[in-house]
Amino acid sequence: MQTRRTFLAAGIAAPAVLRGAKSYSWAEIEKMIARGDVKGKLAKSDLPTPALLLDMDAFEHNVTRMATHARDRKRSLRPHGKTHKCPEIARRLVQAGAVGACGAKLSEAEVFGQHGIRGLLVTTSVVGKYKLERAIRLAKLAPDTMFVTDNTQNAADLNDAARAAGLKLNVAIDLLVGNRTGIKTGEPAAALAESIAKLSHIRFAGLQAYCGQASHVKGWEARRKSSEEWMGKAVETRRMIERRGIEVRLLTGGSTGTYNIDSEIDGVDELQPGSFMFMDVDYNIIGGKDGGEHYGDFQNSLTVYTTVVSKPDDSYVVVDGGLKAFSTDKPFPPRLKEDPAIRYNFGGDEHGKLTLAGKALSVGDKAEFIAPHCDPTVNLYDRIYCTRGAGVEAVWRIAARGMSQ
Ligand SMILES: Cc1ncc(COP(=O)(O)O)c(C=O)c1O
Repeated sequence: MQTRRTFLAAGIAAPAVLRGAKSYSWAEIEKMIARGDVKGKLAKSDLPTPALLLDMDAFEHNVTRMATHARDRKRSLRPHGKTHKCPEIARRLVQAGAVGACGAKLSEAEVFGQHGIRGLLVTTSVVGKYKLERAIRLAKLAPDTMFVTDNTQNAADLNDAARAAGLKLNVAIDLLVGNRTGIKTGEPAAALAESIAKLSHIRFAGLQAYCGQASHVKGWEARRKSSEEWMGKAVETRRMIERRGIEVRLLTGGSTGTYNIDSEIDGVDELQPGSFMFMDVDYNIIGGKDGGEHYGDFQNSLTVYTTVVSKPDDSYVVVDGGLKAFSTDKPFPPRLKEDPAIRYNFGGDEHGKLTLAGKALSVGDKAEFIAPHCDPTVNLYDRIYCTRGAGVEAVWRIAARGMSQ
């Protein structure tokens, strides 16, 4: 078994960028990355840090687990692309059975569309002249794209833009389940559905009910109660609209924390979770269905890989990942993957301080962390290095990184 020392020192055990008899310069490695030809040539320990890593065994486990769950419950799966922002990951999810990808914002969905992903759902509404223009452009490129709206004015704007372009837009109603966007469930949503159904250039696509408030409720039973309450209102709304003779083709929603709750609710057709593929500290602590404190349905596939760059005294070392390497929106720090007892404290933009329990780390050692929150952490990186064991087998562009419009 690896000790903490051997694990952390593994990164400096071999000379950098050396594979077998062949040693590569970094310029050569950049060319290999550009050609997509790194497998068997590039090692994790070669990577410049801080680097975003994807453990492929864990990632594939997570994808298979979620896809199998959805398939077994006869629910469609449209994983949220806001988590990965990476067309290659969207493609892998589709290969595993997903019907498409969600994009949080129009610009994110544009990137997926440009990379050939279809079955897009833009989960926040498109407001303003130029965004409407871009929505039309996206619908021309990927005609099955769905947009959401939560008010009659925006629905009318979408309809006008579609009429001017001579096409029909697929539009779902965003329901207020929880405390963010959306129209109130029940009568207000049913009235909006009636007015949308009358619009000449809108195809009513159904309902979106995402309750972020329920997804991180601690303890599975409490989470179940919360999600069932909100999703129950969404299903009631669906039935109310159907009673008015309007077909509701889709009720989509759910999250990593509620996937195995929402999938059991009659009337919920589709799951749109995101974090399950990577996981993070935030999700690890919500508690599992088994009653345990650790939420272990999905493995931690995403890590930030850093190097110890300074050891001012024996009580701590400094790693090269700080505020610009991790999301900082949570009240807890990154967690050292192999030894959570070693505490990380932010040490400014570029640095983090690790309080040493013993003298286990030296300059040049590697330290790998689970991010507090996966989505905003991914958004800090241009590429993700896909690892299997000690090797890097692919490097994927996070092409929608920064696409927040
Ligand atoms: C609209 C919507 N759907 C689904 C998700 C996925 O949630 P999670 O990453 O918790 O699985 C999010 C996340 O914020 C979201 O905003």
